[in-house]
Amino acid sequence: MSQPYTNPSLSTAERVENLLSLMTVEEKVGQMLQLPANMPENLGKLEDWNVGSYLHCTGNMVAELQARAEKTRLGIPLIFGIDAIHGHCFENNGTVFPTQLALSSAWSKQLSQSMAHVTAVETRACGLHWTFSPVLCVGRDSRWGRVNETFGEDPWLIGELAAAAVYGYQGDTLASTDTILACAKHYVAYGEATGGRDAYEAEVSPRKLLSLFLPPFEKAVKEAKVATLMVGYQAIDGVPCSANSWLLREVPKNQWGMDGFIVTDWDNIGSLHDKQRVAVDLRHAAKIAVESGNDMIMTTPSFYQHAIDLVADGELDIAFINDAVSRILKYKFELGLFDEHRYTDLSKKDQILGNPAHWHEALEASRQSLTLLKNEGVLPLSSDNKPKILLCGANADDVVAQLGDWSFGSMQAGAADDSYHQKDAITLRQGLQAEADAGRCELNYVRGAAPAEPDFEEILAAADAASNSDIVIACVGDTLSQHGEFHDRADLDLSGHQQAMLEAVKATGKPLIVVFMASKPLTIGWVKQHADAVVCAFNPGAKGGQALSELLFGELNPSGKLTISFPEHVGQSPVYYNKYEGWHARLSERTNNQERYIDMPALPLFSFGEGKSYSEFSYSDLSVANPQLPASDDLAKGEALKVSVNISNVSQRTGLEIAQLYIHDSAASVTVPVLQLRGFERVELAAGETRRVEFSVPYSDLALINAKLEKVVEPGEFKVFVGASSKANDLLSANFRVE
Ligand code: BGC
Repeated sequence: MSQPYTNPSLSTAERVENLLSLMTVEEKVGQMLQLPANMPENLGKLEDWNVGSYLHCTGNMVAELQARAEKTRLGIPLIFGIDAIHGHCFENNGTVFPTQLALSSAWSKQLSQSMAHVTAVETRACGLHWTFSPVLCVGRDSRWGRVNETFGEDPWLIGELAAAAVYGYQGDTLASTDTILACAKHYVAYGEATGGRDAYEAEVSPRKLLSLFLPPFEKAVKEAKVATLMVGYQAIDGVPCSANSWLLREVPKNQWGMDGFIVTDWDNIGSLHDKQRVAVDLRHAAKIAVESGNDMIMTTPSFYQHAIDLVADGELDIAFINDAVSRILKYKFELGLFDEHRYTDLSKKDQILGNPAHWHEALEASRQSLTLLKNEGVLPLSSDNKPKILLCGANADDVVAQLGDWSFGSMQAGAADDSYHQKDAITLRQGLQAEADAGRCELNYVRGAAPAEPDFEEILAAADAASNSDIVIACVGDTLSQHGEFHDRADLDLSGHQQAMLEAVKATGKPLIVVFMASKPLTIGWVKQHADAVVCAFNPGAKGGQALSELLFGELNPSGKLTISFPEHVGQSPVYYNKYEGWHARLSERTNNQERYIDMPALPLFSFGEGKSYSEFSYSDLSVANPQLPASDDLAKGEALKVSVNISNVSQRTGLEIAQLYIHDSAASVTVPVLQLRGFERVELAAGETRRVEFSVPYSDLALINAKLEKVVEPGEFKVFVGASSKANDLLSANFRVE
């Protein structure tokens, strides 16, 4: 007779309870184990160790393993996780979006959601149920190899874009063919690793954790209902995240009410012993893991037997294991894996992956994420007299450099070969060639310098060709071997001989347009000073070359704005807009109040929020209506702050402006950042049009974390700023009071 847990008409809670009551300790601990399927030695463990989850499983192996799981004593289905980070890119036919950092420059919740939705559809079509995305790390230090994976440097914006992505992945119901579990990672403050060194200790105070690093995760859990969190590798103030029960149990589960489960990062539990040394051996590590609240253990095989032994020896309370397993089973039921969604019809995969509608979304994402940083009147290019263009730089025609990390495998998942995504990608060279084929220009491509090659030879050829051209487009940046996990940089200057190439082509006197195709901000002060135009693409996705060509020829009016500051020099790192008031190095009159080091400014080279358009916008008439304190202590009940401003398109061209709202608490009980982003609006305006744009800032967004670590809104004077970027000259301001 079938057991109640197999009955779909019962509630999830009833089914979980029934199934749990039937499970042995071995079966329970097995549910907590996740092993890499791309290592053959792990496949036989499915039955031996009752494995509950595999990661990095592709192809027909998905169906084979699922069928074997069905034949086990209780037939508990497997849950498959994968790093589908900016598209389901480990599949050669998958749709590849811009990286998270590039995508964030569009400041678009809708794009974030549609990227995630397309990824979910393609991932689920392959029989997989769970992506380790989005990344909620705060990217403030460009030396760190994983900055490309972040939504940039602002926690509030990260929260907005991440919540939209979670919704895009998870949708309204998980029991469907087009949704998957999301995973907010890396929990928490992983990007704050000291010196920008991946996984290194983070020095973060409890106040900073509560003020900056936890809020995006709180939003993902409380508002977007993210199903899973992934624990960061690093220790915070000496405590590895995976050994911190306050971080894993108290905050998300008890305070935020998270009903999902927490997965470790790769072998976090082994590292508690063999790297971080807070566990005397792997058995001790297994005990810490469970007691601290890690529900699923990624790739620490020794965990299995140790956890079973610890329970048998009375050293580990089975209640912890029951809690972890219930959380995992709950989502297996909700995904429909015990019912009609145990198997996926893989025959449909080829029509679903990379279908035209998906590529359309990806191209749109590429377009909206491009950011014009400088334009001295050279852009858009006119096709009237068919300019002779020299295109140089290896990144102009290199799919690997264009797509960035998690497109070709990764450190953990093994690399696919470089032929991946070649057939679908459009490089800048190909995009411009299409313009040439359409008669808009003559194109000459000389590869010139590459980011990771010391080759000088072609630089002279590039300079020669520049002399015979009307205009030079140089594409510079970095490539896959220079970023990602284990790949931090101490030097952020352009590598290889890219700088020499730029100087050589510039010396010809021809107008120079620089396309910056890199995983993250680099120190490109020369470029800012000497190029006639600068376009920031980061890793713009497979269709990035098409989007760039459209921008260069003016078919696309750029609208992206930076979500991350560019350091002028690596010695400024970390550099970010939501900094504190500096006073001991402030040269007031001469430098217009700018702070500085004695040898360079303290301000970034390019600032958060910065980005130009072919249109021109102006702001006027900022007004603000005071918010009222709520009668109760419940911050959420306070009235919203209403702010409005006129934005005019004072140019001849329709364009889209991303207007930003910042606040500053003018007198607080603790020091607070000079500016904090609390709103943005994407405003499309026709030539000559003016619109009154309204912002509504929830009262709770005026809160700070006080010295007692309480979240409070302190009555008194505040300032609100609205404008085109975080730069002082771009902002209008008004005062208001909270009474
Ligand atoms: C990374 C995670 C990733 C995991 C699985 C780890 O090394 O830090 O971001 O999800 O591997 O591939």
